[in-house]
This record gives sequence, structure tokens and C-alpha cells, in this order.
Amino acid sequence: MKTEVNSNDLMSVCKRRGFIWPSFELYGGVAGMYDYGPTGFSLRNNIVEVWRDIYKGREGFVEIDSETVNPREVFKASGHVDNFEDLITYCTKCQAPFRADHLVKPFYENADVLSASDLEKAFIEHGVVCPECGGKLGPVEEFNLMFKTTIGPGSARIGYLRPETAQGIFVNFLNLYRYNREKLPMGVIQTGRGYRNEIAPRQGMIRMREFNMMEVELFVDPEDKDWVRFKDIENDILTLVPNTGDETVTMSVKEAVDKKIIANRVLAYFVNTTRQLLTRLGINPEKLRFRQHLKDEMAHYAADCWDAEVLLSYGWTEITGIADRGCWDLSRHAEFSGTELTHFKKFDEPKEMEVTKIIAKHKALGPKFKGKAKDISAAMESKTPGDIKNGNLTVNIDGEDIILTDEFFEIATVNEKVSGERVVPHVIEPSHGLDRIFYSILEHAYVFDEEKGYAVLRLKPEVAPIKVGVFPLMEKDGLDVLAKQIYEKVHTPRIEAYYDGAGTIGKRYARMDEIGTPWCITVDYEAFEGKDAGTVTIRDRDSSQQKRIPIDSVPSVIDSLLTGKPFSDL
Ligand code: GLY
Repeated sequence: MKTEVNSNDLMSVCKRRGFIWPSFELYGGVAGMYDYGPTGFSLRNNIVEVWRDIYKGREGFVEIDSETVNPREVFKASGHVDNFEDLITYCTKCQAPFRADHLVKPFYENADVLSASDLEKAFIEHGVVCPECGGKLGPVEEFNLMFKTTIGPGSARIGYLRPETAQGIFVNFLNLYRYNREKLPMGVIQTGRGYRNEIAPRQGMIRMREFNMMEVELFVDPEDKDWVRFKDIENDILTLVPNTGDETVTMSVKEAVDKKIIANRVLAYFVNTTRQLLTRLGINPEKLRFRQHLKDEMAHYAADCWDAEVLLSYGWTEITGIADRGCWDLSRHAEFSGTELTHFKKFDEPKEMEVTKIIAKHKALGPKFKGKAKDISAAMESKTPGDIKNGNLTVNIDGEDIILTDEFFEIATVNEKVSGERVVPHVIEPSHGLDRIFYSILEHAYVFDEEKGYAVLRLKPEVAPIKVGVFPLMEKDGLDVLAKQIYEKVHTPRIEAYYDGAGTIGKRYARMDEIGTPWCITVDYEAFEGKDAGTVTIRDRDSSQQKRIPIDSVPSVIDSLLTGKPFSDL
């Protein structure tokens, strides 16, 4: 058995066996774009189901589905319009574009933190020229990675394809908060497409221009960064690379928090949840580590971030990021939309506190607004000084916006008994690159069986696209009729089965091994006569071992294997 993977060999199995196809091959292909075939789509869906099982099932989070095209305002507020850039250079001779930091990677440990002028100097210092034609490289410029479009005809409203699904959750904060009965913590998940107009995508599915994400946004009280189930996992072991050095350390989740290596218990809990998810999906735990971002590597929104990295044929590769986004997103959307996005945090007991509030000037309101004055003053006093924009306060009475200058109100600091305070929730975000996880699972499952002369995907049964192959030894003498009956019984929405009667039995096993099918049922002549009448064989993918089981027990045997019964116990 050979377990080293050449990504070209794997991609060729993936293409042949319907996992993944380069998009638009008919027209020469487009770099960084892939379509999922039938087996790939099933595998991807199974990954999503495991993720849902953990976040919706175990943690009780809710799931939404928001728009992929967003107006510019959303990404102006999120910071993506101004900060979501890579540095680009073009060859002055052949005009080929390059990600500038990639060209100097061999000379720096963290080339992606170099500035445009550092990179231009690095080209000169290291004699870097165009890798395509040897031409001189041009100036280094910023290139925004978002795909731009217009919403509606003309160019009146600029939109962008979302670079992350997260913003669809943040802009729905108030809807979600109401739905959650105005309580924190509040966990929300979303899976869907994201888009990044990568400069020069390489490394197959690792850098795609249109990609799939599974994102989790957990809104927490900034002063309560703990998690209710932390105790259950505090002794689980993590492999960490903290940003204080390059050293890999292994320690319990509790120790990582106690030593302040991971900033808080909720972040640590979800680093560990990511470990649980990835290993359940089939990532080899020996090839998984969590690396803390360097301070200058952190995304513009992150206060702390850990990447789940897996060892692939490409080297250590990020497949999930677990970030503490602090109050960045909600504060920015509140500022840009003019709408307060806060949580009302009730005190255990009302407290005497100094409160700065708006006091309506009744004497000025009465003569001007007459019968409406009472409603206006009540609406004004329900606002906070933060709602005053350019010196004016706007209230809405019966659908009409009324703008009030400071002649109608004052700001006073008073001592009051208050029952709570408004806080901007912090966000903890485990963000999963679904395609990268998909590819990593395939690499870690791939073995080349030299004896058989073909590749086997040792996928975890829970994610395998097809759970069971059903074959007649030959497609005649009633073997096919019985095999089809068994197939009908075993194939359900939960258990995908595959009937195959064509070609030699060896070739049929090979086809199933190559797509990672954990078990195959074969109907042979013994099913009809002799001491084994009424039984069929079941074959295990990883050991190639075969056993006989009663025909009627096939569905329940498959079910028990899927829920973890070892094949050797049959
Ligand atoms: N939402 C995290 C990311 O876009 O990577």
C-alpha cells in the first residue's frame, strides 16, 4: 500500500470517477473553477450533513440562506471594499499577471505580509523576473478580489458577489436576534457559495474563484466568552502552533486557555469542535494542526484567529479559520446603516447608575408640533445619544420621519436605577472552506494498492458517496433478479446503494474501491442451494475480507456497520 499522494493522480481518479470536473472544459476551461460530478456532490453533501449534525444538532444553532449578490454598502461597512486586496504585478513584456508575494515566496517565510514597495525592492534584490517569459516585472499594485457587478440595469447600484457568507448573517442580526427571543449566545450557520477573483489560481481545488463555504457565526456577550459544554472537552488534546514562535506544542484545551495561548474558552471550544469535525470527516489527526495567525497576517476584522491546517501534497494548507471577530462587524454595520445593533443585557438586580440620556424639551415641542408633541417626546426619550447624527435626532411617527434639532432636546447625565445595559455582541467564527475540506479528505483517504494495481479511497463510511455496491456474480440465472431485489431494499434516502452487473466482478470491486464504497454485496449461486442457501457475501473495502450474511439481514447489517459496528464483529 502506498499512501503518498500525487495530486495529479488523485485528480485523475476524481475526474474519471465523477467526483470533480474542471469547469467549461468544452471551451478550454477557466482556472480556479470546478464542477462537482455525482459522486463528488454526494460526498460534499455528506460533509455538510456532518457539519450540520454538530452545529444544528449538538449545539442547537439555526441555519439561514442569504443572497450571494450584495449591494456595495454591505462590503463598504464590512471593510472588504477597502481592505480585501492582494498585491498584483504584470510582466512588462508578456503582460501575464502574478500575485506579487508568490513570486518571492522562496526568499521569505511570510511573503504575504510584505508591502507593495517591499515587494518591488525584493524583485530587484533577488533578481525576480517574469516566470513565463523572463521579462521585467512592472509596479506592484492593489487588486480587490471581489467580483463587481451592477444590480438592475445601468450602473446606478453597484453590487458585489459575496466573498464570504458571513455578511448575510451580520446584516440579518436584528431579525435573528428577535427570532432568538433577544438572547445570547446566538449561533447561526450558513453554507453556500463565496466568490474571490483570485489573481492566478493554482493548486487545484485549494484556491478556487467560486467556492463553497460552511460558516458559523456565534454572537456572544463580550464579557462572557465561555461555553456551556467546555467541561466536556477540556481534556481533549490539541496540536497548536502559537504565534509566539514556530514551535508545535501539544496540550489539552484547558491548558491552552489557562496558559492564555488561546484567548478565551469559547474560542478554544470551537477550535476543538473543528478538530472533532475534521477528524470525524476523515482528516488524519497526525496531519492536522492549529496555527495562530501572526498579528500582521490577521484579516482586518479579526482580534485573534487560528487556522486548521492539514498536511497535503501541497504542504501545510489552511482549510478552516476560527476567528474572534470581536465587535467589528456589528459596530461597522451599525455605523454605516445608522441602526443600533446591540443586545440588551439584563442585570441580575437593577443597579443605580449614571446614565447619559436625551431629555425632550416639552416647552419647545408643544407650540411647534401641537397634538403630536407627546408622541414625539416619548419617541425622543426612547433614543440614546448615539442616535444623534450631525446634531439632529430623527424619530418616526406614524411612518413619517421627523428631524429634530437641538432646540428640542438636551443631553443630561442623571443617576437612575437601570435594569440592564446595551452591549455590542462579539462574534466567534469557525469558517470552513468546504472544497478544501473535500479535497483534503480525498488526499487523506487515498492509498494506492500495489497488489491490486489501483487506487482505493478509504473514506469514512459516514461521508462515502455510495455506502454499498450490490452485484450479481453474473447477470443471469436469477442472480440479477435477486441482486436487484436486495438493491431495492437497501437503497434509501439515507443509504445510497449502487447496482452493477456489468464486467468482471474484480472490475466492479475496483470501481467501488476507487470511489470509496465501504461495502459490497455479491449474489452468487450459493444463495440458491447448499449449506449457504439464503445468504450472500459482504465484502469489506479496507481488508478485502468477505463474509456470508442472510439475505434478509442485508439492510440491518449495513445499518449497524454505518453506526460503527466493526466488520470483524459480523
Ligand atoms: N468569513 C471568513 C472568511 O471569509 O475567510
